[in-house]
Amino acid sequence: MNTKEPKVEGRLQALLAEFDSVGALVTAAERVRDAGYTRWDTHSPFPVHGIDQAMGVRRTRLPWLVFIFGLIGCATGLLLQWWTNATGALDFGWLPTFLQGYDFLISGKPRFSLPANIPVIFEVTVLFAALATFLGMLAMNSLPWHHNRLFGSARFKRVTADRFFVCIDAADPKFDAQGTAQLLAALGPTHVEPLADLPSPARWPHGLVVAGMVIASLALLPPLFAAKARLSKSPLPRIQPIQDMGNQERYKTQQANFAFADTRAMRPQVPGTIARGDPLDDPHFYEGKVDGQWVKTFPPQVQVTQSSVRRGQQRFNIYCSPCHGLGGAGDGIVSARALRLDTPGWVQPTALVGDLVRDRENGNIFNTITHGLRTMPPYGDQIPPADRWAIIAYIRALQLSQSVQRADVPRDQWPEER
Ligand code: HEC
Repeated sequence: MNTKEPKVEGRLQALLAEFDSVGALVTAAERVRDAGYTRWDTHSPFPVHGIDQAMGVRRTRLPWLVFIFGLIGCATGLLLQWWTNATGALDFGWLPTFLQGYDFLISGKPRFSLPANIPVIFEVTVLFAALATFLGMLAMNSLPWHHNRLFGSARFKRVTADRFFVCIDAADPKFDAQGTAQLLAALGPTHVEPLADLPSPARWPHGLVVAGMVIASLALLPPLFAAKARLSKSPLPRIQPIQDMGNQERYKTQQANFAFADTRAMRPQVPGTIARGDPLDDPHFYEGKVDGQWVKTFPPQVQVTQSSVRRGQQRFNIYCSPCHGLGGAGDGIVSARALRLDTPGWVQPTALVGDLVRDRENGNIFNTITHGLRTMPPYGDQIPPADRWAIIAYIRALQLSQSVQRADVPRDQWPEER
């Protein structure tokens, strides 16, 4: 075997030694390792057990990277939630609005609470760790390579079949063309090949370059659209990719409908009629008024029975108790919390069992439920009239329950006297 300085055209890049058995490869790897080389590699058709040790490959430091990024992810998840949900109270005036936190109070829960934050913290930790694993592995192996100089060697093609290779990089500090060639030759290879600069350095395939340019230009479109949407005003509705029932065939106010002789889509009331539910139809039931005065009675179609009072109780507990309290004392949880947080402008809900509401006519209370009163919102849209009357019946029952006299209770229901 010729052990003179290897002759190649172009600059010498590496020396490639070919072996025909896995045993020879492992022994060769041990010898190269012991000779102190650091920039070299082995290639085989299949994974070789013990090759890491033979090559003196250090344990990977990737787990540390993953651990550190996991911790960063953990902190990011925590900070993100604190920032987005709990920071509104601090005034970061210098930040654009869309980067500011939103001090968001949900059902009186604390703005910042570790247990509630754990799922997101967990997810972000896993995400960061997974990305660090994937990208760290690529970076530590200097991947991706779109070409490897070994592909220039015709012999190297057999690495996927029955040949084993050791390749020492010319950039290795210990590399010396003659000495290294001698070392390799002494390891009993079937061949030692010098690898030089490829005559035509591998280029990115033309198609890939064009595709990359097209994708890069297309990638500019979404930010351009976003910028346009932010900077310009349009009277048109947004683009709605999934229509659901967002757009239906219908007539809008003041449109023409040629099905009618007068082409008005908005039909006028038929003269001499009153629509159902129109207060004029039954002012007692719909407005709590008779001859312009609040009624003290219940309308004839409302029967105050045990079952209607129970219905009223149930509706009251849903709609009224959050503010007025289950017992009607004006101490509901919404109010309690508003008072505890010193919410500015909060008006304590009226005690429904007090003298004020006790003396209110039924019609007046009905009107308060329908239209609201000062700081109390209206409930006419949510509670149908019959239920409003049922609630009033229950409020009366509550009032009675809080100032009951012994004489009001039938004798046989008195508690046993001792
Ligand atoms: C969002 C809290 C809230 C809810 C819910 C609420 N109220 Fe009120 N209500 C108030 C407040 C606040 C007042 C006192 C308004 C004021 O005096 O400015 C009030 C006052 C009243 C009054 C006294 C009105 C008067 O004549 O002075 C009645 C009666 C009343 N509410 C009934 C109800 C009933 C019945 C319901 C359920 C359908 C209900 N409220 C639901 C907050 C609420």
